[in-house]
Amino acid sequence: MRKIIAANWKMYKTCGEAAQTAAELSTALADGTPHDRLVLVFPPFTAMDVVAAAFAGKENLATGGQNFYPAEQGAFTGEISTAMLHDAGATWVLAGHSERRHVFSESDELVARKTVFALEQGFKVMLCVGEMLHERENGQLSDVLSRQLSTALEHLSDAQRETLAGRLAIAYEPVWAIGTGKVAGPVEVQEAHATLRALLASMLGDAAAELPILYGGSVKPTNASTLVGLDNVDGLLVGGASLEAQSFLQIIGS
Ligand code: 13P
Repeated sequence: MRKIIAANWKMYKTCGEAAQTAAELSTALADGTPHDRLVLVFPPFTAMDVVAAAFAGKENLATGGQNFYPAEQGAFTGEISTAMLHDAGATWVLAGHSERRHVFSESDELVARKTVFALEQGFKVMLCVGEMLHERENGQLSDVLSRQLSTALEHLSDAQRETLAGRLAIAYEPVWAIGTGKVAGPVEVQEAHATLRALLASMLGDAAAELPILYGGSVKPTNASTLVGLDNVDGLLVGGASLEAQSFLQIIGS
């Protein structure tokens, strides 16, 4: 399976800053190397079109929306639609990122509606899941991952289930490891990814083996190669260390 190395720029970068970083990435990855990696960038909305333009024509580079509202259009002040993201050049979306769940109170049910809607609209979805520290300490890892996955996937149509390969990726991001510098250790990451793979198999059957499971949470150039080499780790979702092109390029090459 082709590894996915994704950058979530969160609420960082003006258009000019985003254009510069995107141009550095595009130039450095111009010859398509490393060939076995798909590089995704989730910029802020205002910079989507400049980043998409910098990546135009590059099969190994793509952009995605960090958020969207699951309706075609309407009176939803402050929200953005998948049609608008498509128009700006995005082909992926994030759903269920922990900052959306915990800072903006998005429920499992809203994450589920977003997942189904984005797939219906032809987007590729990176569905984020992960436990909080107290949930891990109380032995609830498997229960939390199971609840988040099953709620998000239970309303998929049969047609959607049959065509998930290449259209759905899971990102495991333990909330306690995001932006804290506390990376989950190899044992913890392997345990969570194996749990996710087994849960996906129980929910989706054979299709589960083809779905990439990314790790996210304090990924740095210094730990990326260890993380990406672990069983069932099919890529990385990087926040802070993706903001500088050189740092992100080191992670892509690791
Ligand atoms: P950091 O890499 O800054 O911990 O952020 C991880 C993340 O939330 C990516 O979506």
